[in-house]
Amino acid sequence: MKKIIAGSSSPMLAKNLAKELGIEIADVSIKRFPDGECYVKLNEEIEYAIIVQNTYPDENIVELFLLQDAARRVANRIDVIIPYYGYGRQDKIFEEGEAISAEKMAKLIQQDADKVILINPHKEHIINFFDVEAKACDAVPAVAEYFKGKVDAVIAPDKGALYMAKKAAEIIGCEYNYFEKTRISSNEVKMEIKDMEVEGKNLLILDDIISTGGTMRKAIEMLKQQRAASIYAACIHGLFIGNADERILQAGCKELVATDTIETAYSKVSVAREITKLL
Ligand code: R5P
Repeated sequence: MKKIIAGSSSPMLAKNLAKELGIEIADVSIKRFPDGECYVKLNEEIEYAIIVQNTYPDENIVELFLLQDAARRVANRIDVIIPYYGYGRQDKIFEEGEAISAEKMAKLIQQDADKVILINPHKEHIINFFDVEAKACDAVPAVAEYFKGKVDAVIAPDKGALYMAKKAAEIIGCEYNYFEKTRISSNEVKMEIKDMEVEGKNLLILDDIISTGGTMRKAIEMLKQQRAASIYAACIHGLFIGNADERILQAGCKELVATDTIETAYSKVSVAREITKLL
């Protein structure tokens, strides 16, 4: 029997995925001992396990490994869906002496996986760290659908996110652009949008991750100064460290939207349908 094993990071996404696939969520016990150690137990037979679990924060990584181990002992096939691939930002050696965290995680995860799906990993080349079949799922179409008819342009907060703005704009049927960053001094960076009038427009700022919210807040402030009519902020992975969400809303954004890769009150878009296309 094919079943979904819902890790504790992702009950909502697992439920959405089960609905999309027309399969059930397996009966699994996941507990913590008083000292914080994790315990998992599969309470039923599973032949084909689809595990849904984040590698963020750290305690979810151990839970994922244990779920994989339990599944490997009974199932013939294991697909691992990692909605938010934590440690993805350390995807290469930036300074001598560092670990390549994204690669190490891949080597550990693949030990008990036949296939791995990551949703918008920070860099696409991360999937090449896996020696088993690995795919990157793009949640941008799902986010773009949500904003259809609401915005006149999609803005990337930096050049790295431009591909997302372009793709979303194509689906929405609107303009796109990005903030060009120019360093003015050691502690001042100028952010401007070239060749596009933003005054009076309804704009969507789209990024892959919102962590501290600093990038998004700065972008909102710049667009407000340029008299945008309304500003929406969206991301795939809403980490919202500290009170990043509140500070983004206070900066003057009309709505804050994230997906269910990290489950929060802002998870208004599900990536479930996009995942099914790769299963
Ligand atoms: C950077 O490369 C990412 O795409 C995001 O722009 C970044 O992680 C956002 O971080 P923060 O919310 O802390 O500004």
